[in-house]
Amino acid sequence: MLASIVPVSLLTVIGILLSDALAQDPDGWYKTNPAMARINRVDQNTHQLIDEFGRTRFFHGTNVVMKEPPWHRPFEWIPGVSSFGEQDVQNLHDLGVNIVRLGHSWAGAEPVRGSYNQTFLDIMKKQTKIAEDRGIYVLVDVHQDCLSRQFCGHGVPDWFVKENWVPSTKRYPLPLKPTSFPVNENGFPTPQSLCDTVDWSLSYTSVAVGNAFGRLYNDYDGLGNAFAAFWKRLASGYNEATNVVGYNLLNEPWVGDTWANPTLLVPGVADHKVLEGLWNRAAQQIRTVDNDTLIWFEGATLDVLSGFENVPLGDGSKSVHSFHYYSPPQLGSISQTLNNRHKDNERLRTAGVLTELTFWMGNEKQMQDLTDAMAATDASMVSWIGWAYENLYNGTSGRPYPELAKHYSRAYPAAVAGNPTRFSFSESSGNFNLQFTSDPSISAPTEIILPPSTFPNGYDVHVSPEGSLLQYAFDKRTLALFHPRIS
Ligand SMILES: *[C@@H]1O[C@H](CO)[C@@H](O)[C@H](O)[C@H]1NC(C)=O
Ligand SMILES: *[C@@H]1O[C@H](CO)[C@@H](O)[C@H](O)[C@H]1NC(C)=O
Ligand SMILES: *[C@@H]1O[C@H](CO)[C@@H](O)[C@H](O)[C@H]1NC(C)=O
Repeated sequence: MLASIVPVSLLTVIGILLSDALAQDPDGWYKTNPAMARINRVDQNTHQLIDEFGRTRFFHGTNVVMKEPPWHRPFEWIPGVSSFGEQDVQNLHDLGVNIVRLGHSWAGAEPVRGSYNQTFLDIMKKQTKIAEDRGIYVLVDVHQDCLSRQFCGHGVPDWFVKENWVPSTKRYPLPLKPTSFPVNENGFPTPQSLCDTVDWSLSYTSVAVGNAFGRLYNDYDGLGNAFAAFWKRLASGYNEATNVVGYNLLNEPWVGDTWANPTLLVPGVADHKVLEGLWNRAAQQIRTVDNDTLIWFEGATLDVLSGFENVPLGDGSKSVHSFHYYSPPQLGSISQTLNNRHKDNERLRTAGVLTELTFWMGNEKQMQDLTDAMAATDASMVSWIGWAYENLYNGTSGRPYPELAKHYSRAYPAAVAGNPTRFSFSESSGNFNLQFTSDPSISAPTEIILPPSTFPNGYDVHVSPEGSLLQYAFDKRTLALFHPRIS
């Protein structure tokens, strides 16, 4: 595809050239199929996501998570404020993004135990619908970091953690500090500025946080079932949504009560000892209201290789391994992590998506690592979702940082009507190359995202063998390639 710099590119298609071909009517196809294609299964041999037309799908996107009350972003676009509304999805669409991992807070959904806040759930549904209106998929993500506000984190509702679960000599953030924090009537550390004195990622090793995770995993006082019931409620609001790619059960789950059972810190142990149980509990409830939407599950964030014995409910064709790459805690390069996750995919017979990676402004090394991550994910044909949307913008000017925007605006194949063998994109030359074996039994087109900001002067397309695909510009950012139809 032609970039402003070098006007050459190659799209290689290994396919059958049909001699008695008739032009398929692209306009007609889009008129007949106006909706976004549902993503509803995993190819357990290629470990890729497949849509309702049988196309292999790839995603580039960003995370949108609200970590404090009211637990959802405002709709209105105001520079410097983290919003999520029509202007936001328009910006993301124009950049070339096709997925948002949208945080759905349990704290926001169930402020009183057993009583859901429908107003809150409707706001989340509306934001999901706004994304659909701009052709953006949503991963419904139940987010947490350090579990609760009692631990300077967020995620579970305020009623979840009880102060007396651990004796006063072991309360948060012991043993990270010599004494526990003073708390207000809700049990939240007071003043809140105390939270800035502990490293949130180390908080997982505190006695109180481990204890609370342990109670979630072993269903103490029905808390595991409460989590599953919340998921059933959430899924019942989305089972009809076309643009929901999955239910991400819980962000970055801690390994559990390591003070009661230190073996949980052994790599791989927590995945099958504690996480599998909770994931099955939640998945069972989801499947009473929704048999179609893919269930995305995370393992212990520290793991090199997954320790799961099975995916939730054992159906790898309906599940996705959702994993993150940060360094630390991951050791080694992103390519090594992608290789390891591929081994997990093969063993668990499912797909994997990189649902978080460092995507904010940083020093030269960090920016180079991001550039490398973009090449590595392409080379492994892995979809990615950057952390996070708000970091894209300079808060003063309200404008995207060009150094980040260029990565969100890469060329990539959002849909491949056939079997992709490889793709790559060079940000410096603007060259995009896709190689795939086309499948004429798929009527839906291959769709390549070519953001106008990356290709301001248009692009040249080379198809090999020549004439084996018909080109159609579906919208400003999407080049569709149709198979010729046999007469
Ligand atoms: C429910 O959510 C709405 C929207 O954020 C909020 O205004 C309201 O206070 C919430 N209700 C409760 C009981 O938390
Ligand atoms: C999902 O499938 C199971 C097993 O076939 C069935 O019992 C259940 O009713 C189905 N749920 C929905 C929402 O269709
Ligand atoms: C952010 O924008 C302001 C106003 O345009 C500008 O002065 C500042 O240098 C920008 N910051 C960075 C880090 O680019």
